[in-house]
Amino acid sequence: MSYPITRLRRLRKTATIRSMVRETEVNRDDLIMPYFVCPGKNVSNPIKSMPGNFQLSIDLLVNEVKDLFETTGVDKILLFGIPESKDETGHVACHYDAIVPKAIRALKEIVPQVMIVADVCNCEYTTHGHCGTIINGDVDNDSTLHTLAAQSVTLAKAGADIIAPSDMMDGRVGAIRKALDENGYENTPIMAYSAKYASGFYGPFRDAAESAPKFGDRSTYQMDPANSDEALREVEQDIIEGADMVMVKPALSYLDIINRVKTTFNMPVVAYNVSGEFSMVKAAAANGWVDGERLIKEILTSIKRAGADVIITYHAKEFVLSEMKKGNRV
Ligand code: PBG
Repeated sequence: MSYPITRLRRLRKTATIRSMVRETEVNRDDLIMPYFVCPGKNVSNPIKSMPGNFQLSIDLLVNEVKDLFETTGVDKILLFGIPESKDETGHVACHYDAIVPKAIRALKEIVPQVMIVADVCNCEYTTHGHCGTIINGDVDNDSTLHTLAAQSVTLAKAGADIIAPSDMMDGRVGAIRKALDENGYENTPIMAYSAKYASGFYGPFRDAAESAPKFGDRSTYQMDPANSDEALREVEQDIIEGADMVMVKPALSYLDIINRVKTTFNMPVVAYNVSGEFSMVKAAAANGWVDGERLIKEILTSIKRAGADVIITYHAKEFVLSEMKKGNRV
């Protein structure tokens, strides 16, 4: 008898057999594409640190989302707003005519098939760039819950399909759930950024959303990258408070957390492939150091393999287009 007996390479011999035994495949239905909406008309500001991404005024955003849907079939987006003016508490985001509610109404008129996830946070709307109301030099948890709940109700009223709080205040899922229910939005799901880490990978996003904190950092409310058990406690708490989906963010450096969350809770798990993860690929590819398309597929596949059911990624559009061009099922 020849040696070795077990030859795992037998199942790698041809493309056909490899595709037969492939365990993980990223599909367009798994993906959510983020967008940044800003005031004005016909505005398209390139985000320097995120090549291919723009701050778009509502008119151009509507065209872009229509194009996304028609060319790729991706029918889920996440919206962030860059407001005309900011205030101390982020209350500007709670008005009916705030930038994101306005964008949602415009989108729902032209592309109602596209599902809109609305990020809920104050950092884009506060003068100091923190995610809540500052009292004694730190973000005050309980007063911030009021602005988050009010912002959520405004977004739901405007037509947001899913509310996604990204602030990391304690008790916010419960507070938002209660406010939504009291206002007749008991059927609007909450996608909670449950295990959100205080990460250096958000750098480019803060340029894009103009939301960098003016003093200190977010480590009194976002999680310590060193912790894993604590992520499970965060997720558990959000589930108790009524989260319909839970999120791990960032994704690539936290695949172990995605896996623990998926294997611990019977819940849809979302992973956010964040701005810095996107920009690293773009920078390396622009230098010719890596094959960008290949990396993107490998990254998204690994996030799904780790246990994510849904992936928020700035690569969504280009990934689906490139798979379609290659004739791959996506
Ligand atoms: C708002 C928010 C952030 C991101 C999503 N929602 C930034 C932050 O916490 O500083 C980051 C997304 C990304 O980097 O792509 N709190």
